[in-house]
Amino acid sequence: MTEFVVPGGGGPLVGRLRVPGDKSISHRAVLLAARASGRSELTGLSCGLDVAATIAAVAACGAEADGQAGDGRTLLVRGGPERLREPTQVIDVGNSGTGIRLLAGWSCAFPWLTVLQGDASIANRPMARVTEPLGTMGARIDGRDRGRFPPLVVRGGDLHGIDYRLPVRSAQVKGAILLAGLAASGSTTVREDVATRAHTEELLLAFGADIDVVPGAVTLRPSSLSALRLAVPGDPSQAAFWAVGAAIVPGSDLVIEDVYVGTGRAGFVDVLRRMGADITLEPVGADDNRANLRVRSARAEALQATEVRGDEIPGLIDEIPALAVAAARAEGVTTFADAEELRVKESDRVAAMVAALHAVGAGAEERPDGLVVRGNGGRPLAGGRVDARGDHRVAMAMAAAGIDGRGPTHVAGWEAVATSYPGFEEDLRRCVS
Ligand code: S3P
Repeated sequence: MTEFVVPGGGGPLVGRLRVPGDKSISHRAVLLAARASGRSELTGLSCGLDVAATIAAVAACGAEADGQAGDGRTLLVRGGPERLREPTQVIDVGNSGTGIRLLAGWSCAFPWLTVLQGDASIANRPMARVTEPLGTMGARIDGRDRGRFPPLVVRGGDLHGIDYRLPVRSAQVKGAILLAGLAASGSTTVREDVATRAHTEELLLAFGADIDVVPGAVTLRPSSLSALRLAVPGDPSQAAFWAVGAAIVPGSDLVIEDVYVGTGRAGFVDVLRRMGADITLEPVGADDNRANLRVRSARAEALQATEVRGDEIPGLIDEIPALAVAAARAEGVTTFADAEELRVKESDRVAAMVAALHAVGAGAEERPDGLVVRGNGGRPLAGGRVDARGDHRVAMAMAAAGIDGRGPTHVAGWEAVATSYPGFEEDLRRCVS
C-alpha cells in the first residue's frame, strides 16, 4: 500500500488549476466513439486508470484507439459497427463501477459474448440494477449470485426497446439502458423522478442519435452514430476537493478552470455556498455547461453547518466525502441523509469517511443512510493516520482536510487516486502556497 503524507500547516490555495477531464463524460465519449462510423477526436479525456480500462475494452472489441496522436492529450478513435467484433479475452474494468455498468449495456447491443470483470471492490458492487432491465430488453446476461454481482457474462443481440422507470436514481443505469437501446428494435424510454447526470443523452445527441429529451424522460430510437470532435470539460467531482480546500483554508483565492457544471453535477457548489463559501462561476465560451469556478475562503470565520438530503443527493453523491470535510470544519452539526448509495461505492463511504474523520480528530457518526458530522468551528484539523480503503475519493477528501492540518495527515492506500486523478499530488504542491 502506498502512503501519501500531507505535511499540514499549509497556506492558502491560490492561482489557477485545471483538473482532469470529466470521468463520466470520458467513459461515454469513448464508448460512443467506438460505435460511431468514422474517426472521432476526443481531447482532454480523464487520465485515470478507470477510463484507460474503458479505452482498452473498446480496443479489445475492435475499435482503433490511438492515444499518442496529435498533442498527446487527444485520443483518436476509429469505430463503427463494421469494425467491432467479439472480444477474445475477458474484459477487465479494474476499479470502475461506471465502466462495468456502461459496458454491460454497450455489449448487449452486439450478437456475441462479452465477459466483464474487475477488481475486488468491483466484485461486490450491485449489478442487478443493470442486469434486470437489460434482461427485459432481451439480452442474455448473467453474473455471480444470479446476476447480482460481477463477473458478468453478456450475450447480446436481438434486443427490443423498453419503457423503464429507474428504481434507483442512477445515471449509470440510465446510461446502460440507452447504450443497449441504440441497437434495440422500437424505442427505448428511461424515466426518472429526479434528474441524474445527463451525459449519456447529451453525448448521444452530439453523436447524432435519434433521441428526444424532455424533463423526466429520455426516448431513444435505434440509431447509427457519426464520429465527432469533442473537448471534454474538467471534472466537477475533482474540482470539489479543491473547492473545499479553498473554502476552508483562510486567505485562499483559487480558480478551477473549465469545469462541467451541467445537469446533476454542480450540487456541491450550492451546498458550499449555503455553508458560506464564496464561489463564483465565470462563463467559459458560449456553453452553459462549462464554467471556471472561483473559490475564495469563507466570508465568515467558519463555514456554517447544513442539511443535505432528499432530491439534492443524486446531484452531489460523489462529492459527499469532500463536503464531509467542509462540514468537519464548520460551525454546528451537518447531516447527510437519504444517501444509502454511499454504502455501495468504491468503498462503504459512510464507514470510510466516519473512520477517517475520527482519525484526524473530527466528530462524525454513521447513520444507515448517511452521516452526521460535528463541526469544529473552523479550526484546522489535527492530522493523523487515515485509511482510504481503496477509495480514490476518500483519499483525496482527506488530503484536502490535511492541507492546513495542525500535524501531518498520512493517507494509506493512496494508490487508489490513480483511478481518476494521477496528478493530484503535483496539483496540491502547485496551488498550496
Ligand atoms: C456516474 C454515476 C454515479 C456516480 C458515479 C459516476 C456516471 O453513480 O456515483 O461515480 O458516470 O453515471 P450512480 O449511477 O450509481 O448513481
